[in-house]
Amino acid sequence: MLKTLILKNVGPNAEMPPFEFGERLNILTGDNGLGKSFLLDIIWWTLTKTFPADINPLLTGGRAALPIRGKKGEITAMFSTKSKKLYPFTSSFDTKKQIWGVPQGRPTNPGIVLYAMSDGSFAVWDPARNYWETSPRKTERSHREPYVFSPKEIWDGLNDKDGTSLCNGIIRDWASWQKESKIPFENLKVLLEWLSPSTNELITPGELTRISLKDVRDMPTLRMPYRQDVPVVHASSGMRRIIALAYVLLWAWQEHRIAAHLIHETPSNQVVFLIDEIESHLHPRWQQSIVPTVMSVVEKLHKEAKVQLIAVTHSPLIMASIEPTFNAEKDAWFDFDYEDKKVTLTKRDFEKYGDANTWLSSPAFDLKSTRAIKFAEFINKASAMLEQKEPKQSEIQNIHSQLVQALNPEDDFLIRWQYVCQKKGWLK
Ligand SMILES: Nc1ncnc2c1ncn2[C@@H]1O[C@H](COP(=O)(O)OP(=O)(O)OP(=O)(O)O)[C@@H](O)[C@H]1O
Ligand SMILES: [Mg+2]
Repeated sequence: MLKTLILKNVGPNAEMPPFEFGERLNILTGDNGLGKSFLLDIIWWTLTKTFPADINPLLTGGRAALPIRGKKGEITAMFSTKSKKLYPFTSSFDTKKQIWGVPQGRPTNPGIVLYAMSDGSFAVWDPARNYWETSPRKTERSHREPYVFSPKEIWDGLNDKDGTSLCNGIIRDWASWQKESKIPFENLKVLLEWLSPSTNELITPGELTRISLKDVRDMPTLRMPYRQDVPVVHASSGMRRIIALAYVLLWAWQEHRIAAHLIHETPSNQVVFLIDEIESHLHPRWQQSIVPTVMSVVEKLHKEAKVQLIAVTHSPLIMASIEPTFNAEKDAWFDFDYEDKKVTLTKRDFEKYGDANTWLSSPAFDLKSTRAIKFAEFINKASAMLEQKEPKQSEIQNIHSQLVQALNPEDDFLIRWQYVCQKKGWLK
């Protein structure tokens, strides 16, 4: 569980205030390019001492962090381990070796760490499998690499450098679980149901099928409401994102329990889940439920564990969706901005803005108007005109016809404009 993080001379700003994370939900907002995904990469590194792209070169993101040129980069973090002890950790960038220094000796165990990247890549660090391994050839035990999947590998399977299969991937696992019709398939069905957008739109497995003469795999399908079974590889982007999320959660949980049993350890009591752009590909209705659902799904899977979710969003619906459960003692909202040519970070008090539209003009998104830019300009011009004493009749008529053409007849601004203009005798 990550408590604090201090970055110096690394990322878009040399001096960021410390991040004091909430123990449960942490939500990150901010404009494009201000370092939100980068922060998730750094958090992943802090917990696992690896960068995803160093493990899997197929990734397009998750590259190793480079400090600001000519400056000494430093990452300081405090996290709690399985024993709930607080563990401080500082690393400096070694410019000669071009790596971040890691203390010698036994690394600390942060619990299970899951990372869903915005492009559909995933990474899993499992304390029972990646923490400490005994190699038959080595006398010393060493660190085994985490599981890092490119978007394709999560579907088709992941092999290590020697070609050993590390994970079968969604297509093979789903099909074999379905054929065996045992607990993993029941669990998958339950997870897909929980993660569905609503009880009217359940994600339900259909019959296995074949989709090509070349591909010998039995292909899982989804039973669509229009009574057709659609192969999962043809499913929509939103469906595929959720299927992949459900699979990673289930696979990581199952394999962790098997591995923990094998090495005579109790399953981990901590889970950190990093999700970039949690709303990606989801329809607004689905966006309204995804954060509470993901939280409860992870809590249900890891019954005895504490779950910390760190999620990035660009969606006002996501912000509105967390209003009922946001608890300042356990949760935190970090907002990145760009001010005076600098990236700034503010840990904001969570206010209830009530609905997604109001969230758009909140500090999370800073929109002055939620209308089309052109229509907002008409309204600005009309508002300025209402302040004038005697505008020219031709200008009033001009703005009036622009507003009438642009806006809905029921639009609040149009109604107010017409009322004021009539009162002033501007409109005949
Ligand atoms: N590997 C890296 N090393 C150093 N700095 C990096 C690295 N990767 C990204 N950055 C910094 O982060 C900035 C981009 O940030 P990032 O991709 O995290 O944006 P974002 O806030 O996630 O934007 P978007 O909302 O578009 O996804 C870069 O301009 C750069 O300053
Ligand atoms: Mg990003």
